[in-house]
Amino acid sequence: MFSKIKRPHSISLQLSFWNTGVSFLLLLFGSGWMYLQLVRSYDAREAFVLSAKATTLRDLALQGDLPTLKWEISGYYPDGTQRPRVPSLSRIITSDGAIVMETGGMSELLPSQAFPKVSGVAERAYRGRIFRMLSVITPEGYQIQVARDFTLEKDLIASYRRKLWMVLAIGLLLSVQAGFLIARRGMRPVEEIATTLRQIGSSTLDARVKTAGLPSELFSLACTFNQTLDRLEDAFARIARFSSDIAHELRTPIATLRADCEVALSRARSLAEYRDVVESSLEEYLRLSTMIDRLLFLARAENPATQIHREFVDVRKELETVREFYEAAASDAHIELDILVPHDLTGVVDRTLLQRALSNLIENSLAHTKPGGHIRLEASRSNGSLEISVADDGCGIPAEHMSRVFDRFHRVDVARSQESGGAGLGLAIVKSVAALHGGQAGIDSQLGEGTRVTLQLPVA
Ligand SMILES: Nc1ncnc2c1ncn2[C@@H]1O[C@H](COP(=O)(O)OP(=O)(O)OP(=O)(O)O)[C@@H](O)[C@H]1O
Ligand SMILES: [Mg+2]
Repeated sequence: MFSKIKRPHSISLQLSFWNTGVSFLLLLFGSGWMYLQLVRSYDAREAFVLSAKATTLRDLALQGDLPTLKWEISGYYPDGTQRPRVPSLSRIITSDGAIVMETGGMSELLPSQAFPKVSGVAERAYRGRIFRMLSVITPEGYQIQVARDFTLEKDLIASYRRKLWMVLAIGLLLSVQAGFLIARRGMRPVEEIATTLRQIGSSTLDARVKTAGLPSELFSLACTFNQTLDRLEDAFARIARFSSDIAHELRTPIATLRADCEVALSRARSLAEYRDVVESSLEEYLRLSTMIDRLLFLARAENPATQIHREFVDVRKELETVREFYEAAASDAHIELDILVPHDLTGVVDRTLLQRALSNLIENSLAHTKPGGHIRLEASRSNGSLEISVADDGCGIPAEHMSRVFDRFHRVDVARSQESGGAGLGLAIVKSVAALHGGQAGIDSQLGEGTRVTLQLPVA
């Protein structure tokens, strides 16, 4: 069965959804609240005016002040002129429905049946107009009916509501657009980083993510990307240099071998002459195969899957073994080979690899130390590491070469090294051995005074 790959959510989409949602909700809440306040304040005002009117009418009726009561209800001044605008309609009826008194023309505008039968406020539409009305049943059995034309206010509220809906619709459109723009703007730097990274290939490893102007959250991410690219670019450059170095190293000896063969075959030779050619070729073949062995060793050492075989060793014994091997060569060169190691020093290391590294170091020291010089093999334990060093009082290494002596094929004096068969791989192997043990190799050298190479191997 094929499982469907779920596409991850888009951050921009989520951001714009939340931006839009939140701003629209705020707008909805704000305008809804304002609308409610408006309606409530109208309601409160109407209720107050109606009940004040009803109370006045009731008080006047109780006091028996008929002229004032009549004036209040009819809207006529005592001299008979009518008030320009009657603010409210009022009526008093008996319990059996007979009209005691009412505002002029009220029966046509709003008959008494339109009012609630019990005390209370109501809103009713009548003949195209809207009224707010109040009925009050007095203890004496009369019913006081007060009403106000509410049409204008109703229209105002309705138009206010329509405008609010319009504002909300425009607000929704604007907040969708704003939400989208904000999200897109916020995500633009991420897009830029992605675009840069998409363009990176083995030939464009020099591209870098622009960090200027990036927000702080993305700044460190971009810096990390750039550092990774630095390392990749460096590794690629080293591999490219290494390949061209190999080609270069192989070209000269193979060209020499070929020339020797061609010369030998150019005419008939004696057996002794052929023998000479084969013998000198053999030497070159040996040198080449040693170089290839060492290159293979370095390639394997770089493979993360390469395992080493650690074993418990007496460090002094290991150093003695190596010294024994070089004892004869050292005495031939009139160089003293000493060991300075505490007796009980032990370590857990790969013996073969350690011997290989020490051999390279001793060969280097022997090659660069004058007769009468000293080479010292030292070992100690410090800061949880086993430190093994080979020090000599030879010619030393010029400062400008110090940073590159561990590089493959790097030789200080190329002519001399080639003459002695050195390919410039010895220190690279030493460094690999240290790395395989999870440690590192360091070098310290003073021109004319001597050199010390130290292996720092963490105690496993
Ligand atoms: N003890 C030392 N004293 C002075 N120079 C040294 C010493 N060890 C190494 N060097 C310099 O560092 C260079 C690199 O050393 P490395 O062992 O890697 O290569 P090499 O000895 O030339 O060749 P190879 O070891 O592959 O036969 C040498 O060419 C040499 O000039
Ligand atoms: Mg060497």
